[in-house]
Amino acid sequence: MCGIIGALCRYEVRDDLLAALQRMEYRGYDSAGICTLHEGAFHQLKAAGKLHHLKEKNARQPIPGCVGIGHTRWATHGEPTMVNAHPHLSEQVAIVHNGIIENHLALRQHLHQRGRNFSSQTDTEVLPHLLEEKMAECGDVLPAWRDMLAELHGAYAIAAMIRALPGSLWFARKGSPLLLGRSEQGMYVASDALALAGLADEVMYIEEGEWGRVTLDAVDVYALDGQPVQHDWEPLPLSVEDSGKGGFRHYMLKEIHEQPGVLRNILRAYVHETTIRFEQAMFLHSRPLPERIVMVACGTSYHAALTARYWLERYLQIPVEVDIASEYRYRDPVIGDNTLLITLSQSGETADTLEVLRMFKRQTPQNRALALCNVASSSLARESDGLIELFAGPEIGVASTKAYMAQLAVLALLTMCMAGRAGALKSSEMAGHLRYLEKTVTDMEAMLADSSGVLQASSLFAGVKGALYLGRGPCYPMALEGALKLKEISYLHAEGYAAGEMKHGPIALIDSTLPVVVIAPKQYHLDKVISNLHEVQARGARVILIVDLPEADWFAHASALIRIPEGDYFSTPLLVCIPLQLLAYEVACMYGTDVDQPRNLAKSVTVE
Ligand code: G6P
Repeated sequence: MCGIIGALCRYEVRDDLLAALQRMEYRGYDSAGICTLHEGAFHQLKAAGKLHHLKEKNARQPIPGCVGIGHTRWATHGEPTMVNAHPHLSEQVAIVHNGIIENHLALRQHLHQRGRNFSSQTDTEVLPHLLEEKMAECGDVLPAWRDMLAELHGAYAIAAMIRALPGSLWFARKGSPLLLGRSEQGMYVASDALALAGLADEVMYIEEGEWGRVTLDAVDVYALDGQPVQHDWEPLPLSVEDSGKGGFRHYMLKEIHEQPGVLRNILRAYVHETTIRFEQAMFLHSRPLPERIVMVACGTSYHAALTARYWLERYLQIPVEVDIASEYRYRDPVIGDNTLLITLSQSGETADTLEVLRMFKRQTPQNRALALCNVASSSLARESDGLIELFAGPEIGVASTKAYMAQLAVLALLTMCMAGRAGALKSSEMAGHLRYLEKTVTDMEAMLADSSGVLQASSLFAGVKGALYLGRGPCYPMALEGALKLKEISYLHAEGYAAGEMKHGPIALIDSTLPVVVIAPKQYHLDKVISNLHEVQARGARVILIVDLPEADWFAHASALIRIPEGDYFSTPLLVCIPLQLLAYEVACMYGTDVDQPRNLAKSVTVE
């Protein structure tokens, strides 16, 4: 979703602002803008659509100034037009904002009565006017900034410039992430650490409710109640290379290819010979095992949780509930004692998932909350009692790939670890499963080196209206994920279904034009899947089989075969990830869509 950058430097900042916005493109946006302050005047450029429009404007008419703010906007209030793009300005103030000001209509009305006019349809535009009013009342910016924040309902991360104070940048955070950066050359405010790659050497994470200002020499941070707070500077955990495509055509393809390395990192971090240890979640090793597990997430992360439910219930023999965060938070769930909450999130900033964590902690402070997250500095990671980091590195393609595989891998380890403690998995069995996970690293490399099966299968999607994905057991959620991936990046309609449920509806879709991807590894109820395959094939569909058997007579029913190496109970879904992701990628390329930034999607959904 929206991205924020602010820069206060010893040199002109426009190019840095644009470069930072470019590094945040992956979050999803539909318009963008930058504004600088130079010799007492604001200079701004805005454009609807992709960033190159803004860059072209800047090339024609570069804006001067050593202090500036920039924004990529993902429309919530008002269409993605130039007028609605940020920054929003009043006479004295320029502001960029992420989040939603829920009481913007009341504020707008009040400000209107005081003679203020608005040009955009956005909630954000009330902010510069409100601050200006407060500045007139208080006669000073610091109390005015605090008074403005006190009137806001909703979520925000804000960066602002004030015309009379060209040597400072102002910021505030509530419900939307924000961090500061510094280098010898300047100070920065950003919504995303990646924005600062190549600009800042060190970062400071701003906590919920905090606000303040930076100058070239100082940082003042205050808590919501106005008390000064101190935070340490930490090294920026990223380099410029992390934000590049590494020679691949798309970020998504690069990230698919990074998966063997990600799995290797995960095994190195958590497996020590045959012991599994989670150093940032020690309660998993010391407290009694939970009597119930609740797993909550959104999108692809939710699908990883669904697969893990099969694993956890099988080995722990306790109820495992899995829900979508936006449903869970509004459905009055019954949370008992001895319940472990597991939230899963690539970004750790997804608003609904974060709210579930907060609700869970409010309602049952005696329980523990574990985050499975790719960003250790994220709100979710920091507010949970324990963290299992995904070690996937920055994921920039909007469609999640390597973070999903990483979630499955750490969930497999978590299951084994808890099953070991419960006495449900002998150490010899554990060692066998771990050997399979190690073999998965090289198996993935081999699959990525030869994707001929996927290429052949992708040609069956030419000119189709949609597709169906079928699987059983832990591979049923993988069918959901395969369909989601295709939908997200190719814009083809796709449905994932439990293979056994197919005859209760989706079978009506089947004709000779429908590609049906059947996930059929031998691990999970293969005989049943073959029966479902016959039902599909009898109706003439284009069957694409994902299989790990070397040969079988039922392969004759397939229009395309995608072979995966043989896995075991835990490693098989990890192997299945690769063809599902590559298939969606190849189909999207065939259709010529914007693979890395598909229309309407945002990488990090920081509003509910
Ligand atoms: C967005 C992204 C999805 C992602 C979901 C959850 O919708 O486009 O790819 O799966 O958010 O994100 P999270 O960061 O919480 O895993």
